[in-house]
Amino acid sequence: MRHIMSPLDLSVEELDQLLDLANDIEKNPEKYAHACAGKKLATLFYEPSTRTRLSFEAAMLNLGGSVLGFSSADSSSAAKGESVADTIRVTSCYADICAIRHPKEGAPLVASMASSIPVINAGDGGHQHPTQTLTDLLTIRSLKGRLGDLTIGLCGDLKFGRTVHSLIQALVRYPNVKFILISPEELRLPSYIRDGVLNKQQIPYKEVERLEDALPELDLLYMTRVQKERFFNEEDYVRMKDFYILDKAKLELAKPDMYILHPLPRVNEIAVEVDSDPRAAYFRQAQYGVYVRMALILTLLEVKVC
Ligand code: CP
Repeated sequence: MRHIMSPLDLSVEELDQLLDLANDIEKNPEKYAHACAGKKLATLFYEPSTRTRLSFEAAMLNLGGSVLGFSSADSSSAAKGESVADTIRVTSCYADICAIRHPKEGAPLVASMASSIPVINAGDGGHQHPTQTLTDLLTIRSLKGRLGDLTIGLCGDLKFGRTVHSLIQALVRYPNVKFILISPEELRLPSYIRDGVLNKQQIPYKEVERLEDALPELDLLYMTRVQKERFFNEEDYVRMKDFYILDKAKLELAKPDMYILHPLPRVNEIAVEVDSDPRAAYFRQAQYGVYVRMALILTLLEVKVC
């Protein structure tokens, strides 16, 4: 039995196989329509979500399985003081696989240690979001045809944005990837990623504050929202929240084939006028999230479809 806590829980070879499977699911959905008949997915969400929870549920339903779960801590026995470990022990009696989101970093790992079913980290605090990374990798590979030889701009809240932390860890395993880290001083990448991953592996990167300075160089721009829920005071959030707004005028500086990704939800950081630009790929990205989660469920449940 395997759990997925970080994108590094999959080797590059396994990741490539998973993305190939997701592409096959996209092309031949009917082939997989009954692959998980009789199986159940539990979604244990202690923190709000639209895409991750609904795409996990859509993924299991598309595979012919069933779903159960809760969408907030308040609607579960966590509100009465039940521990994550006890909750997963009980969930293991009801479901075959589980996706868990929790505001505390490491909570999905605690769950995995008490679980007798595969546990998937669906986002833990400001730490990791591995299935968003799988979604991002599938999107990048589908749009650009490769995961190496790319200059990628990561823009916004690089401190608390867990999707950025997971994505960097995954992308540094591919050749000739360069990063431009675009953030205000207060929201720079944490040192466990900058020093522990980028510097340690001698990955080329630079840090800039102005989006305009980075745009002309980029093959991909990964925008993120400022993570309001992780700030200690409202005043700091208000000061930071509109630091970056990508609009049509700024996009004039970008290459004609520079795709724009965003894990969503968007707040103000991408103007709605950008949505009609052919380079805006964030809604396609959300669709890829269903295919890749279908592939992950099949892989962890060891279901083979011929
Ligand atoms: N991208 C993402 O994790 O979105 P949700 O918070 O809506 O799940």
